[in-house]
Amino acid sequence: MKGRFHPYEGYPMAKCAMPVRVMKLLGVKTLLVTNAAGGLNKGFNVGDIMIIKDQLNLAAFSGNSPLRGRNDERWGPRFPPMNNAYNKDLIKVAKHCAQGLGLKPFLREGVYVMTGGPTYETIAEIRFLVNYGDAIGMSTAHEVTVAHHCGLRVFGLSLITNQCISDYESKSAANHEEVLEAAKGRAKDLEIFIETLVENFNKYDLFLQKSAKKSVK
Ligand code: HPA
Repeated sequence: MKGRFHPYEGYPMAKCAMPVRVMKLLGVKTLLVTNAAGGLNKGFNVGDIMIIKDQLNLAAFSGNSPLRGRNDERWGPRFPPMNNAYNKDLIKVAKHCAQGLGLKPFLREGVYVMTGGPTYETIAEIRFLVNYGDAIGMSTAHEVTVAHHCGLRVFGLSLITNQCISDYESKSAANHEEVLEAAKGRAKDLEIFIETLVENFNKYDLFLQKSAKKSVK
């Protein structure tokens, strides 16, 4: 996709995630999601790339899940599990690719927290959330929920574009310009990483198909 719909733009959550179902109907098997995110984890630096291993969907916590409303079983079950939303095998493949590309020094792994935005967080909110997540942003979790519900495999990356502020004495403030600047700085690395991932996820699929055929014989 070129861009995406965010709930803060005023669209209902389900509508924001609707393109994922279009992809499913087109025959897509794997969803690769990316986002810009603030670093909650104090060990993270601007420019780090975080593999998303899990998510905290704050909007869904408060009743605004993209799956809210009547469930159409053709997409998936009423009560889908989410403990296995981010595919562990694809994470392994990605770590291997990152090693090969020399991206390891700024590769991280962690939990992505989604807020509704459009405000950046208060200090109290950050102090609360640092206990539960590593990166925070205003997208992705609703798309991953819908993708997992309809059986897509999911792999996700967050680019850390700013450090979240948790100090009342701090003179700085999160702003959109620094987010864009950091994203530009890592654009080439991300492009190469994603190209390599697509190639290697495909290879991994071929390997799985071959092994499945062997076990049938
Ligand atoms: N908070 C929420 N969303 C974001 C941030 C942040 O600090 N950085 C980029 N997107």
